[in-house]
Amino acid sequence: MKNRRDFIKAGAVTAVALSVPATAGCITIKKVAPQVPMKPRETGNALVLWYSQTGYTRRHGRLLAARLETHGYMVTASEIRDFRVRDMERFDLVVIGSPVFYYDTPDYVKTWIRALPDLKGTPVAAYVTFGGPEGNQDNAACSILDLLTQKNGVPVGARTFMNMSSFPLAWAGAEVDKKTWKSRHLPDGETYDRVREYARFLTEQLETGNASEFSKQLTAREMVTWVAPIYWTKKLVHNHSITEKECINCGTCVEKCPADAIDLPDYYVDTHACVLCFGCINNCPAGAVYMEYGGDRLVGYRDFMEKNSLTVTEPEELG
Ligand SMILES: Cc1cc2nc3c(=O)[nH]c(=O)nc-3n(C[C@H](O)[C@H](O)[C@H](O)COP(=O)(O)O)c2cc1C
Repeated sequence: MKNRRDFIKAGAVTAVALSVPATAGCITIKKVAPQVPMKPRETGNALVLWYSQTGYTRRHGRLLAARLETHGYMVTASEIRDFRVRDMERFDLVVIGSPVFYYDTPDYVKTWIRALPDLKGTPVAAYVTFGGPEGNQDNAACSILDLLTQKNGVPVGARTFMNMSSFPLAWAGAEVDKKTWKSRHLPDGETYDRVREYARFLTEQLETGNASEFSKQLTAREMVTWVAPIYWTKKLVHNHSITEKECINCGTCVEKCPADAIDLPDYYVDTHACVLCFGCINNCPAGAVYMEYGGDRLVGYRDFMEKNSLTVTEPEELG
């Protein structure tokens, strides 16, 4: 086994981080409240944007958009990266969805929100998908609202939706992590009903002009986000590269990488720039992304699902 000592050391650090209890009491570290009055409904346009690596957040975003349409909104819905930020003012509602990565909202999403123009009182809402059961998801959703509120958005809602984790280290090695396996049926009908309820709730909030307050709590997992979990997890993963003879040059890994760390056709991975989101290995259709964990080759989400004959239940609205 390569780098065995390194692996054990980093594994111990991560194990300690993950074994800390999820909550550390009810201490509020941040209150997210409206900073400006809410803009009244004017155009009936809503915007639902998401960042999604393996499709869960996209699926929930698309369902949310479909339901908002049934409530009378004209909805623009897309991946964050495909949306051209121009006329944000024409929306009566802006909803941002993100997966929870490393107990937090990914930097990619945070940076994107920080670059937004002034939202001038536009109602804003968040949702996150997570692999849990406890993934600091409430705080991650709150972080999105916090940033949108700093842009003068008015917070109206936040929801968290659990599904099977797409974190490859959860099934690396001899056994699949128990909680990952237990949640392999998620999202299910109940999850989608919660998404539908969220759409209804948001429209009610807008109709009544009802803003909300949100609190970020001090949890042990929140504290883990302060000690660079990506840095430590990176110490567990080795030889991240693209195998030239397996690569079909489809560009999926380049498109999925939020750090511009992959170069094709040079088959180059800048492991320094990599943010270890596993978007490349999780989505490669040719199994050409190579990573090692504890001396074994890591399996991506796509291959893991196929190997175990797992499929994701689609909400009926999306066909
Ligand atoms: C790099 C990475 C880190 C993750 N970290 C967490 C986490 O800290 N807490 C959690 O509950 N789930 C975590 N997950 C699971 C994802 O949040 C979850 O599977 C999410 O729904 C994926 O969304 P997507 O399919 O839209 O990318 C992680 C997944 C990945 C790939």
